[in-house]
Amino acid sequence: MEMARRIKFFDTTLRDGEQTPGVNLNLQEKLEIALALERLGVDYIEAGFAISSVGDFEAIQGIAKALKTTSVVSLSRALEKDIDRSWEAVKSAVSPRIHTFLATSDIHMKYKLKMTEQEVLENSAKAVAYAKKYTSDVQFSPEDASRTRPEFLYKVLEGVIKAGATCLNIPDTVGYSNPDEFSRLIKGIMENVSGIEKVDISVHCHNDLGLAVANSAAAAVAGASQIEGCINGLGERGGNAAIEELVMLFNTRRDYYDFEHNIDSTKINRTSKLVTSLTGVYLQPHKPIVGANAFAHESGIHQHGVMEERSTYEIMTPESVGLTSNRMVLGKLSGKHAFVQRLEELGVKLDTEDAINRAFGKFKALADRKKEVLDEDILALVDDNYDKIPKRFELVSFQISSGNRMINTATVQLKVEDEIITKAATGDGPIDASYKAISEICGYDIELKEYNIRAVTGGHDALGEVNVKMGIGGKVYLGRGISTDIIESSILACLSAVNRAS
Ligand code: KIV
Ligand code: ZN
Repeated sequence: MEMARRIKFFDTTLRDGEQTPGVNLNLQEKLEIALALERLGVDYIEAGFAISSVGDFEAIQGIAKALKTTSVVSLSRALEKDIDRSWEAVKSAVSPRIHTFLATSDIHMKYKLKMTEQEVLENSAKAVAYAKKYTSDVQFSPEDASRTRPEFLYKVLEGVIKAGATCLNIPDTVGYSNPDEFSRLIKGIMENVSGIEKVDISVHCHNDLGLAVANSAAAAVAGASQIEGCINGLGERGGNAAIEELVMLFNTRRDYYDFEHNIDSTKINRTSKLVTSLTGVYLQPHKPIVGANAFAHESGIHQHGVMEERSTYEIMTPESVGLTSNRMVLGKLSGKHAFVQRLEELGVKLDTEDAINRAFGKFKALADRKKEVLDEDILALVDDNYDKIPKRFELVSFQISSGNRMINTATVQLKVEDEIITKAATGDGPIDASYKAISEICGYDIELKEYNIRAVTGGHDALGEVNVKMGIGGKVYLGRGISTDIIESSILACLSAVNRAS
């Protein structure tokens, strides 16, 4: 019997994913995502493009030091100064990898690089040989491979294998290929590149035509042993292949894809939520696997079918991606022990007594205001990322006077470093008025750039979660607030953005 083939997952959420317009993660946030990716079980984390900025460099370095099992990768152009910088950033990782790339398609060589084939051949091999002086693990990508003349591609790949590359990553840079074509490209490489059996073949597919996952899966069937992608399918333009979709495709269709991998699918939901909350890129409700409706059954016929037998309309269970349908049975009289146990069942481990006490305090406060506390409520409460921001400005109280035929007025009271300050302001609506009052207290010009509100669960007493993007001092800051009162959520969201900026 043939053994299942091992597919390695290479996550580039922090590099290609961070190239998503509007995404700008700080060091702490990148570290948080990297730790979640390690728990998810990805094999490689491309933590950034070291030479591109000091922020990227420091984040890669921090991640390289923090991760215990996962290999950390930095991207570099085929230039010595890029490779030097990448090595500086990844060298303390348990298994560091340098990733270098150079475009090989006629279009890119002629218009972007202004290089001849000969120059590209030489520079790619030279870059790999240079990186190899630092580490045994070097990945090379011929950018725009899917639009490269295959004969030339084979030559470049042969050259970099000779120079010591351990992984050849074949990008469909502009999402142009389709599954049959891409599969043939991988097979062509396997048949025509000498030395190919010694290295991993990887694929990196963009989703411009909605085929990134299909192309990646087809390549894996053809023989690729590594797949690159991003959580939630983030990335340039239409994004990259969504890792959670590939994992669930392989798991759900084991009859077709006989692959082994290291991903713990029950961590998918939490990882996706973390990435959503830190990037501020919200998902369409019908996004496969991790969208709000991915496991919802609306039509009566479907609901009836699922109640009789889940497999009628469910090809995978919500539990397999870490969703639970259990209701929190704890109420306001429940103790901390039971609360912590439920958190652990939900896959949340708070590392300090302080974090547990804070979460338990929030749970108690919520249980006072909300009859049924559901798992989603708890997960929203312990989404601790915003709690870690130092709170220079804290909400003490607010009062609103609002209506359709009156001047909307907000009085907001904040604690600012042991002093209580109260200001009142008027505005177009209660939220606008309260943001103006906050702006007066903080002394910042605050520009609301984006405002999103959602109910965490159903019901009249549901928690309302508000996410904002605020322009403060020429930069954009994300903020989030949750409460059963949506004005309070809005004020808390504004304050978390302001505290980030402070
Ligand atoms: O899309 C692409 O070609 C890339 C390379 C740098 C791998 O992101
Ligand atoms: Zn890319």
